[in-house]
Amino acid sequence: MEIKKSANVGEWLDQRLGTTMLAKVLMTEYWIPKNINFLWAFGVVLMTLFALLVISGMFLLMYYKPDTALAFNSVNYTIMQEVAYGWLFRHIHAVAASVVFLVIYIHMLTGIYYGSYKSGREMIWISGMLLFVTFSAEGFSGYMLPWGQMSYWAAQVITNLFGAIPFIGPDLVIWIRGDYVVSDATLTRFFALHVFILPLIIMGIIGLHFYSLRIPHVNNQEGEEVDFEAEARKYKAGEKKKAKVIPFWPVFLSKDIFVLSVFLVFFFYLVFFHYGFAMDPINFIPADSMKTPPHIYPEWYFLWSYEVLRGFFFSADLGLIAFGIANVIFFLMPWLDRDPAVKPAAKRPYFFIWFWVLIVDLIGLTIWGKLPPTGVNAYIGFVFSILFLALFIILPMISKAERNGGAK
Ligand code: HEM
Repeated sequence: MEIKKSANVGEWLDQRLGTTMLAKVLMTEYWIPKNINFLWAFGVVLMTLFALLVISGMFLLMYYKPDTALAFNSVNYTIMQEVAYGWLFRHIHAVAASVVFLVIYIHMLTGIYYGSYKSGREMIWISGMLLFVTFSAEGFSGYMLPWGQMSYWAAQVITNLFGAIPFIGPDLVIWIRGDYVVSDATLTRFFALHVFILPLIIMGIIGLHFYSLRIPHVNNQEGEEVDFEAEARKYKAGEKKKAKVIPFWPVFLSKDIFVLSVFLVFFFYLVFFHYGFAMDPINFIPADSMKTPPHIYPEWYFLWSYEVLRGFFFSADLGLIAFGIANVIFFLMPWLDRDPAVKPAAKRPYFFIWFWVLIVDLIGLTIWGKLPPTGVNAYIGFVFSILFLALFIILPMISKAERNGGAK
């Protein structure tokens, strides 16, 4: 076979390895809008992080012991000191578990900024939110496994929250824990959830997320409706510059791989030089049910919703209701936003302000979620929490005003 001089890496691979066949099987005629920026690569970054978590997790599983008498040492002594490269797999797993939330938040906020949850994309959004919830459960159950002080006490506090549900609360807490207190039975069931049940569910939902992406296609920076067939014909006829689409393979994928590579440099820099940020020093002390740490807080990615819970410092019930709302409110984005036009926030004056106030509020909640809730901190946390709820109350109003031409 004669090998021609190729314009890009994809064509070069196609000629040498015959990869077009494979691409056809996997991604038959799949086209991607041209005007999308690096933020659209974060879905692939998430896939990669999930794969890294599964692979590093499998190695940890070979030495981890799900038993309250053995768990702490199996992680901190066996894996970290005795097993060759055990420390590497633990650091990859811990850093990926933390960074995956940063990337999920970027991916979610990109969807919000560009209105990618609207007009036929509701299912992509709902499946994405289900991924957020299952990843949260995965993160929480994983945090329990080293059986350090923070593992134990965070489990104690979070499982306790279910006790406030009317009627069934107290029984539900015992059912979740498998005991009257957080104990060995709790550890083994969270272990089962973490290493088997939840990963299986996550894989299923990722499948659903991708399947629901095929029909409306991904959105683009202008929210423009693209006639994919007509544009693909243009591209194939040689009018590549005029066409509004590019083929998924190999053109788009090579862009994705570039962003992914830059991300992986950052990721492994964290793994080798700054892994400490993903681990709480208090969790290097073995769990002790007789000694409550002076200040209990969750991992950084749960701090914003934790602060909504604590923000209503004068009423535990109100705090719990607000916390419940905060955890589900993003599911409702496609219906709370009453303007059906898909446009970036930059072209929606009210929504643009709404979006940036939301970002500032989430950052504020995260910062105050880590501080002790005393003195003036309690009031600042309350203001951020009220603001969070208020944002979702006014969203239908401002988006309706925008739809009716109230903001040009
Ligand atoms: C955690 C696992 C997840 C994986 C592996 C994943 C993967 C992907 C991929 C590959 C894409 C297509 C390209 C892109 O826009 O990046 C995508 C699109 C999308 N995802 Fe996710 N995602 C995940 C979580 C989420 C979450 C938590 C949400 C938010 C609720 C979400 C909402 C969306 C939306 C709205 C789109 C469409 C974007 C558009 O049309 O422009 N995803 N996802």
